[in-house]
Amino acid sequence: MTAILLRGRTLTFRRRPQDQHDLAACRYEEDGGLLIRDGRIAAAGSHGEVAAQAGAEVGRIDHRPHLIIPGMIDAHAHFPQMQVIASHGAELLDWLETYTFPEETKFSEPAHCRRIARLFLDEMIRHGTTTVAVYCSVHKASVEAFFGEAHARDMLTIAGKVMMDRNAPGALRDTPQSAYDDTRTLIAEWHGKGRQLYAVTPRFAITSSPEQLEMAGALMRAFPDLHMQTHLSENAAEIALAQELFPSARDYADIYDRFGLLGGKALFGHCIHLSEREADALAESGSVAVFCPTSNLFLGSGLFDYQRYGRRAKKLRIATATDVGGGTSYSMLRTMDEGYKVIALNGEKLDPLASFWQITRGNAEALSIVDRAGTLEPGSDADITVLDSGATQAMRLRMETVTRLAEELFVLQTLGDDRAVAEVYVAGRPAKSTLDA
Ligand code: GUN
Ligand code: ZN
Repeated sequence: MTAILLRGRTLTFRRRPQDQHDLAACRYEEDGGLLIRDGRIAAAGSHGEVAAQAGAEVGRIDHRPHLIIPGMIDAHAHFPQMQVIASHGAELLDWLETYTFPEETKFSEPAHCRRIARLFLDEMIRHGTTTVAVYCSVHKASVEAFFGEAHARDMLTIAGKVMMDRNAPGALRDTPQSAYDDTRTLIAEWHGKGRQLYAVTPRFAITSSPEQLEMAGALMRAFPDLHMQTHLSENAAEIALAQELFPSARDYADIYDRFGLLGGKALFGHCIHLSEREADALAESGSVAVFCPTSNLFLGSGLFDYQRYGRRAKKLRIATATDVGGGTSYSMLRTMDEGYKVIALNGEKLDPLASFWQITRGNAEALSIVDRAGTLEPGSDADITVLDSGATQAMRLRMETVTRLAEELFVLQTLGDDRAVAEVYVAGRPAKSTLDA
């Protein structure tokens, strides 16, 4: 593959910024250069320095005055729910039964799986997201379609077959044994193929029998480097039903704990109403709580206490995510805008540097992929997003008064969406400008 040299304002994070003046947490180059070779970042720094190493034969793409950041990362989304977004008037359990489960039955059809997988990853790219952790449907074909499409694009994704053997329509139920067998087959076929990573994916405690959660635990013991993703403590009725179904568990988190499902690669969607004991259990095991603000607001689920979880003595690891299609946007910019408002309702403010750290390096750390994604460090895979802070008239007007980087980031987050994503590189190749080509 030929090398390319990107020029623009480059921004990446070394650690979580403490506040919006903590520029030591960032590496920002006003006239930056990134040398990409064989799908990886080969060099990063000032344009002058990097150009000097690049050699005459490299292709050059000048993105000035745009901002070049690591590709954004979405830690939780449901690709089969593209046609569920904007379903009116229900809270979680009714929403699942009325809209989501009927929609997911369509994924018994492989051609439908392939079409939606393609359109879903198109949307990710359009919105500047280069890595996503995805729930497929209960059908093995949905996982094959999703990984097939991601692999063809060389996108780093984490995904798995939803396991669900009760409290769902017959057409969407597997069994503990079939879920185990299908998952093993999919792991053998896809985990570590190119950039694909498998996640054991029991939907949530309500739709899995104890026998099925036992199987999920057995899979995690057999393949300890896999991710595990599920939902936890999203909604009051859900929490009550989970406790009723597992009466001997101390609380909702304990249900998963009993089956060996907590750990450093365990991703728990929502975690809104955790008790202190549950938060301690997640923190002690290194499990990740995934904040999905647009979904939590849309479904009326509650306000995730991002600041408190990150500040308590036993800190929680936190990721952020769209949760499409409970979530209402594919954009991590829109997600953090809504996240800011949720945090404001909790009486706190999230600073823009921390926000951009979260959707890049922070989410990469939470997903344990920071060695290859979420930064612009040399050696990382070249997943890159180019942002245009003047993409719309409203943004251009607001930018007239901006003097600091943190202010610009806040404008991008508050007013930006897919229009602010000027280009995306996946494993070093332009992916947005070539979408509709
Ligand atoms: N809990 C179990 N399944 C789902 C789902 O598909 N979306 C959300 N938001 N919560 C869930
Ligand atoms: Zn979800």
